[in-house]
Amino acid sequence: MCGIVGILNSQSLKSEAIEILKKLEYRGYDSAGISLFSEQKIKTIKSVGKISNLEKKSKNIKDKSFSGVIGHTRWATHGVVNRNNAHPFANENLTLVCNGIIENYGQIQNRYKEIPKNIKSDTEVSFYYLSYLIDKYKDSDEAIKVFQKTIRGNFAFVIFIKRNNCFYILKNGSPISISNKNQSFYICSDSSILSNYHDTIFHCEDGDIIKIYESKISYLQKKLKITFQKNISYQNPYDKGDYQHFMLKEIHEQPSVLKSTQSKYTSEYFVDFETKFRHLFDGDKIVLVGCGTAYHASMVGEYYFNHFTNKEVSTELASELRYKKINKNKQILFIFISQSGETMDTLMALKYVKKMNHKSIVITNSLESSMIREAEVTIPTYAQKEVGVASTKAFTCQLLSLANLALEVGRMEKTISNQIYKTNIGLLTKLPSKIEKLIKEFTPGAKIISKKLAQANACYFIGRNIAYPIALEGSLKLKEISYMHSEGFPGGEMKHGPIALIDKDTITVCLIPKNDLFEKSVSNAQEISARNGKIIILSSVRNMSKINGEIKVINMPKENIIDTPFIYTIPLQLISYYFALYEGTDIDQPRNLAKSVTVE
Ligand code: F6R
Repeated sequence: MCGIVGILNSQSLKSEAIEILKKLEYRGYDSAGISLFSEQKIKTIKSVGKISNLEKKSKNIKDKSFSGVIGHTRWATHGVVNRNNAHPFANENLTLVCNGIIENYGQIQNRYKEIPKNIKSDTEVSFYYLSYLIDKYKDSDEAIKVFQKTIRGNFAFVIFIKRNNCFYILKNGSPISISNKNQSFYICSDSSILSNYHDTIFHCEDGDIIKIYESKISYLQKKLKITFQKNISYQNPYDKGDYQHFMLKEIHEQPSVLKSTQSKYTSEYFVDFETKFRHLFDGDKIVLVGCGTAYHASMVGEYYFNHFTNKEVSTELASELRYKKINKNKQILFIFISQSGETMDTLMALKYVKKMNHKSIVITNSLESSMIREAEVTIPTYAQKEVGVASTKAFTCQLLSLANLALEVGRMEKTISNQIYKTNIGLLTKLPSKIEKLIKEFTPGAKIISKKLAQANACYFIGRNIAYPIALEGSLKLKEISYMHSEGFPGGEMKHGPIALIDKDTITVCLIPKNDLFEKSVSNAQEISARNGKIIILSSVRNMSKINGEIKVINMPKENIIDTPFIYTIPLQLISYYFALYEGTDIDQPRNLAKSVTVE
């Protein structure tokens, strides 16, 4: 995790570094720091908490006499959140920042007496180790090479060594890119941010050691030429407009991003599907993979494939898949889903299945991400940058991507007729206006429900079939932004254990779309109500009067299997948002979380 910035030769080093760190805050906001440097000196400022604290602390620092800066925003992995464990780690000759984890830091710490034994941060250990190597080897390049050979893990380092006035970038696993024009360089762990600075970009690759010396950039160990390519430019997503939070803005953006994603798919991306994609779908099995919200999208994808095709399909958590045995003799297509395209668990799982010669597709919202560079085929979602840590519009665009994919495969393999295909594409095309109406109509209700939640000790979500992953997603949204205890369950599982949790101080949100499981889902709600649990029912069926007890019924629009997950997601996003607002939590940057999880 963590965000890294480096700038060489710019007029306003400090303010630009801070501006970039603010954009990187989604990668962690436990602490932050910058080191300004030149051939003569290194000056480091660090603070705990958000970048605004660092900004205040560095207000009176003049940056004119410096030639460069490195900066970091931290999501703590090793070592508590405090000023000392904030990056950069620096002395009078060396300063460095790191994104990632050094797995063998304990061994390194034990081996060298020069490294203090009481320090807990893997990066601080790496810092002492590199200082030791710089002292040992007269040549700093040599020290860097030995350093890179010894450390193990997924990381990106940005390092300045004053002794020879050299700047180094090391990459293994974690993303880091460089943009350049004439003498000036910008280095960042999020390449999309660099489009605001120069229009050329270079993405470092695993194993790279890049050196910048007197404005010349070169590989330290490969005899290759570094070629910058044209950078993609992005609209400024860091403007909340009239919204109080990015999350609310992004909830409201769903109709428009779903519309543009669907239109790209039907007019461009999935045109001539068979020619473009047939080779990927001729195997024995499809496995959908993701983490967190993206995992919930994978689960919805499983129901779509199950419904519209005859494919054998299953879902895996990326963090588990990576360590499982995979049958080499079966032909499996793995579909990876990741908003950021950088999640380490997903990236590593992708690398793992590639190594086993299985086919892979990546569905991602980030057109400049590490996964795109690894994937055999990429299906972009066009949700535009999502800034709020809790995923909303990226999730519904992932659902849209999977719905289209399952329909295309079903049509190609003739498990659905042309008519069914067309009807369902029609439903997806109408989805943006349906969602726009739903957001508008449900907002007052969400505010009322949020006040009810404040009186409960825990909130559970239940659903069956395609509504089950949405129950999980509703629960994840609620817990991550409001910190309320919450779980999601398949409705039919309650009686096998979780129903023991129900009492008068709990609220259970029951998702009951009209489908083959409608009656059974109503019974599941009834069973909760019979145990004095309060229930909120979301259903498109109007007459729920036969359920007794303390219930609130929310009328949902009529749904079909293809649009059920979208329709039932929206109210849950709004309930979580308004409850968190009521609770006064930090909605866009909830505690302990980061948007892009680049550690395992
Ligand atoms: C929750 C959320 C996370 C991410 C997960 C995977 O709101 O956003 O659960 O879905 O960390 O991230 P990506 O999709 O970037 O791989």
